[in-house]
Amino acid sequence: MQTTNLLRTIRLTAWIAVAVCLTGAGIYFITARAPDIQRVIGGAAGIGGPFQLTAHTGQPVTERDLAGKPYAIFFGFTRCPDVCPTTLLDMTSRLEELQGDADKLRILFVSIDPERDSPEFLADYMKSFDKRITALTGTTAQVASIAKAYRVIYEKVPGGGRDYTMNHTATVYLFDAKGGFVSTIAYQENEKNQRAKLRRLIRLAG
Ligand code: NI
Repeated sequence: MQTTNLLRTIRLTAWIAVAVCLTGAGIYFITARAPDIQRVIGGAAGIGGPFQLTAHTGQPVTERDLAGKPYAIFFGFTRCPDVCPTTLLDMTSRLEELQGDADKLRILFVSIDPERDSPEFLADYMKSFDKRITALTGTTAQVASIAKAYRVIYEKVPGGGRDYTMNHTATVYLFDAKGGFVSTIAYQENEKNQRAKLRRLIRLAG
């Protein structure tokens, strides 16, 4: 894909992704952050980078642990009512379809709600999805750092009392075995496209 087209696609998916997770306060979120979105998405080649997180298994994970296999990574939170469970179920289905090839890539789900998503909480949540998907969390600073590296936008939206929800980018980002950004899967992109993109990612690795 040409760089211009790629950038256009990313820009578009980022907007759609943010729109999907909109709640009332989200309107302000989009308006206030629009210039930032344009700026950060501008550097597609710069997506990704070093991070330090903890998996739902309790294991520490850094970008070095991802080397050698392509990966799909997306961001969300366990209390998300629709976007995150939908994406996790999509990825669960895709892994099943890949059968023997499923171990040729990694699927990562990063919590952008580390205050509530402890490794233990994630471990319990992930029982509903394919066991090959790794959920990651960390300190507030660690999560902020990986979100920045991956150009992911998220924001706490106050609910009733002490309750809150999160707006967050819903795009799945695809990376090759060397950590190079390849493309994206948009939220609820059709299954045929999802399959083709993941198959292509595996071929790139090999
Ligand atoms: Ni979500």
